[in-house]
Amino acid sequence: MNKIPQVFPWIGSEEIQNVTKVLQNNWLTEGPFCKEFSSRLNAMIGCKYGVFAPNGTLALFLGLLALGIGPGDEVIVPDSTFIGSANAVILTGAQPVFVDVTRENFQIDMEKVQDLITEKTGAIMPVHLFGMSANMRAVMDVAGRNGLKVIEDAAQGVGVTYEGKHTGTFGDVGCFSFFADKTITIGEGGYVVTNDDTIYESLLYLRNQGRLDRGSFIHPAIGYNFRITDMQAAIGLAQLEKLPTIIERKLEIYRLYREGLEDVDEISFPVVEEGSNNVPFRFVILAPDAKKLMEYLDERIVQTRSFFYPLHKQPCFQSERFTKQKGTYFVNSVYGYERGLCLPVYPMLSEENIRSICGHIREFYHE
Ligand SMILES: Cc1ncc(COP(=O)(O)O)c(C=O)c1O
Repeated sequence: MNKIPQVFPWIGSEEIQNVTKVLQNNWLTEGPFCKEFSSRLNAMIGCKYGVFAPNGTLALFLGLLALGIGPGDEVIVPDSTFIGSANAVILTGAQPVFVDVTRENFQIDMEKVQDLITEKTGAIMPVHLFGMSANMRAVMDVAGRNGLKVIEDAAQGVGVTYEGKHTGTFGDVGCFSFFADKTITIGEGGYVVTNDDTIYESLLYLRNQGRLDRGSFIHPAIGYNFRITDMQAAIGLAQLEKLPTIIERKLEIYRLYREGLEDVDEISFPVVEEGSNNVPFRFVILAPDAKKLMEYLDERIVQTRSFFYPLHKQPCFQSERFTKQKGTYFVNSVYGYERGLCLPVYPMLSEENIRSICGHIREFYHE
């Protein structure tokens, strides 16, 4: 039996037909498919404006620039996230300051944020991890009291809502990723949303070489090229059409895993944040001997993934500017990394696959 992969994009005839249409149209860069994809995304997310970026990391970079974040500023970033969240901050010239996450579900620990706020703090970056929302009530409350901007990293947050509102729409900007492992994918891609007219205008200038229209060589501002292609948007439109089915299937897979692991007392699961729905990004378990379990499963049946390596431990972040919090401060991001592991939840994963994975986990603990 071939090993079950961690990620498997669901691409079918709809995507192929759409891409063929783009090629027949002979309009390859941002064109009618981008316009349609953007307007459908805005309707689904419930935001006023949205612009594309080449990937989620650059979406965060673009969003931060539009908020005016730059050298001399600090941005509070959870310690347990993909490194792209922090690198986007570094790219602006600002400093990421790492905060621990909660033990319950590894989202940003808002109780620990207040202590990290200084006169340099410009923004908070909650990351909606594993397909659930961070505690956005607390984020908006702390940001409001301290006059801070909020940039939501919703790379894993497509379809995820908090108190009925889509993630990415609480802060000043929200950023999504459409990388191949994301809930909907266009291969590589990102999206920045906002409800603010001024921020939207900045985003437009920044992503198009500091001008509003193409074809003009007068550039009122400094900007860059953040365009995507109509081929990607064509794939995105087909993916968006399938989103309700993707979410339904992920929830069914989640239910099957929970059922299949019911009698394995050694294992526990992160608790979905109160107010958030659940669009499983991976099936996340916490287990003693997680690293040994990963090896066991990797050798036999399924490609596993660990949690993100805590940012404060990253070899590239060992210089003094990154190590404000020391010792046992990051107790929960370290706990998550030591005990957490991720199993696949892609829509085409079969019931038989899930049963075999659960069977092997049971075998690991009980035999
Ligand atoms: C939480 C988080 N933030 C940021 C990113 C960066 O997105 P991308 O890989 O599209 O640059 C990812 C995805 O890999 C992610 O999971």
